[in-house]
Amino acid sequence: MSEPEGKAVSNGLPPPPFELPYPDSADVITSNLLKIADLTPNERRRFLAKNLITHLHQFVRETYLTTQEWEEAIQFLTAVGKTCTPIRQEFILLSDVLGVSALVDAINNPPVQGGTESSVLGPFFTEDSPDLENGDSIASDGKGEYMYVEGRVLSTDGKPVPNAKIETWETDGNGFYDTQYSNREKPECRGRLHSDKDGHFGYRAVVPVAYPIPGDGPVGQLLLGMGRHNMRPNHLHLMVEAPGYQKLVTAFYPEGDEWLESDAVFGVKKSLVVKLEEVNDEEEARKRGFPKGSSFKLLQRDIILVPEEKSKEVFERNAREAKKNAPAA
Ligand code: BEZ
Ligand code: FE
Repeated sequence: MSEPEGKAVSNGLPPPPFELPYPDSADVITSNLLKIADLTPNERRRFLAKNLITHLHQFVRETYLTTQEWEEAIQFLTAVGKTCTPIRQEFILLSDVLGVSALVDAINNPPVQGGTESSVLGPFFTEDSPDLENGDSIASDGKGEYMYVEGRVLSTDGKPVPNAKIETWETDGNGFYDTQYSNREKPECRGRLHSDKDGHFGYRAVVPVAYPIPGDGPVGQLLLGMGRHNMRPNHLHLMVEAPGYQKLVTAFYPEGDEWLESDAVFGVKKSLVVKLEEVNDEEEARKRGFPKGSSFKLLQRDIILVPEEKSKEVFERNAREAKKNAPAA
């Protein structure tokens, strides 16, 4: 903060153009603030502010929050802020473990009949993935157990979507993303490819491994304090884009993982749980570019994109419904 200069001045706005009772009681504090928030010029922000105030004040009132608890909450949020760096976003992690990221994702990417459902993006997507051809590998040899991923990108009407951009990333066989290694020299276990003219895509990868979300910060402490684990089940991330379609950020979760139902960030939807088929056929392995004699796991799954218009229509209908049912602030 810089040294103050001259005379202290306000932000230039006058007192509200209506009378307010003195905030002598808990109820008057809330009602005064709601009246003041009513002056917010932007309609959407006014709606958000009034709802936030209503729920936040209700929380304090209903829990009868003690001064000590309030201080601890302030200290916790301060620690969350101090843990953030240009490459670490502890506030998003907090949103993730509180289920807010998954909730925002669910609202903004409503399920549309037949469309592949979305999942949380997470902090490990990078822009520097190598461009690959279908059949290439996203992982160097030795990074984990062989897996082949294949399917078609289709529209909800069943038509193939050619040239869809597919970004994909995953952990190596030790449960780490490449960006977690301080000696990272190049992208690893990630790639960018495109569906062919019939919508087909396929690439070599490794079987992803379950891993803990960062536990060395205040969010890690919060989870410990709540008696919660910090594991995500193993998964393969995909981000798929094609003109005219809703951008899809999703992940496939191989079945059988012990953390599937209790994922620390609430990313798993039943429709995204996939079966990995064990293939012990030399011919099939060779066809997909694996070394002689290799067995591999096969992940076969089509990706169904939802036309942008349709997704928008469902979002707007749901939003109207939610607003109608929301208690008036
Ligand atoms: C992930 O899947 O990469 C992830 C998502 C949310 C928080 C941490 C990791
Ligand atoms: Fe992940």
